[in-house]
Amino acid sequence: MQPHFMNKDGYCSELDYYKISYLPSHTKNSNFCCALLLNVALNKFIMSFFENQNIELNAIEVACQNRKAQGLPLSDLTCSNPTLQGYIFPTDILKNAATQYFNSRIYDPQSKGQLKTREYIAKYYTERGLKLSPEHIILTANTSEAYSFLFSILCATGDNILTPAITYPLFEFLAEYQRIQMQKNNVTQRTKALLFVSPHNPLGTVIQNRDTEIAKFNLPIICDEVFAEFVRDKKLLTPLGVYYPDLPVFHLNGISKMFALPDLKLGWIAMNDLALKIYGERLELLNDMFLSANSFVQAALPAIFEFGQEFKNQMVQSINTKLEQAVKLINSSKHLKVSLPEGGYYLFPQIIGLKETEEEIVLKLIAHGVLVHPGYFYGKIELKHLILSCLVEKQDLFNGLEKIIAGLEF
Ligand SMILES: Cc1ncc(COP(=O)(O)O)c(C=O)c1O
Repeated sequence: MQPHFMNKDGYCSELDYYKISYLPSHTKNSNFCCALLLNVALNKFIMSFFENQNIELNAIEVACQNRKAQGLPLSDLTCSNPTLQGYIFPTDILKNAATQYFNSRIYDPQSKGQLKTREYIAKYYTERGLKLSPEHIILTANTSEAYSFLFSILCATGDNILTPAITYPLFEFLAEYQRIQMQKNNVTQRTKALLFVSPHNPLGTVIQNRDTEIAKFNLPIICDEVFAEFVRDKKLLTPLGVYYPDLPVFHLNGISKMFALPDLKLGWIAMNDLALKIYGERLELLNDMFLSANSFVQAALPAIFEFGQEFKNQMVQSINTKLEQAVKLINSSKHLKVSLPEGGYYLFPQIIGLKETEEEIVLKLIAHGVLVHPGYFYGKIELKHLILSCLVEKQDLFNGLEKIIAGLEF
């Protein structure tokens, strides 16, 4: 095919030609038109997902890559992958579960997930004080998928969900994916649900009461409790649904953090009675469209819950010990201030007495051989912070902290 519109470098591609050929004939002639048309053609290819956001590598990532390319060491205090930090769920438990599953493997899809698996999860909530049946549970591949389902069920395009001012950055992407917004300050006409992260990432705060102001909004509540097991006081384990029986409450969790099994991909939505009554059938239908939670991991969950408790308790204990020691060390720096979180495994030290921006400080620390995240990654507020993970292996964590303290003195 011979295209008859040329730009200064030669012919338009066949695809551009194809698109241009849809335009009215009088626009099809000058060079100017050609440039304009090319633009129109390219615009057609711009993805609408995150279209107004810059998704290029940020300065911090570039600095890390440069340092690594030069072969220089970098202690990574941002890692939240337990399998890289020595937290390996006992292999025997998984192998035994796999043997049982593969010896009698059969595909038996269930729209909410396998009943036996849901029974264990319902029991887990009942033991924590919220009486649930397997009917209240929907199994997903992870909490990201659970969020997507809930956003699409609770919101129409352009609606919003009220979120904390500082939050795990993934939520912005998930919201964009569902064409909704994360509303940071106040409830608007288009707010369709409230999101709580408890224990919070990265603040570590745990919600353990009913807030009458929140209840007045009369909106459904999504409670992300992926760090629920990582509380320093087991009394802080009451599910949020206990405090809001009069509102639909969705608890999101999974085995990714709880048992350090992010690779096995099993999450869930645990609804309270009202959420089940209003949204249960639609969520079930949505889940049935994807059935993402794989059958092996569903079959393995009872064994993971039955035999994985000792591993989980040791992991939580080890993280809590590191948190306590890290807090002491961090507070020995005149430039940092942090308190012990109630839960989770992150620290959010405030930066004191330094003029540089968070980003400049983080770049300076990278030059000193240690990576932490700047506070603004999780939301912009006036005070300056760093974010670091105490999941990191003990020796690496404390070497990294020493480097931070020394680096901030320069
Ligand atoms: C608060 C919070 N929610 C959800 C997730 C995602 O968890 P999952 O592994 O189930 O996708 C994370 C991951 O770090 C998180 O920090």
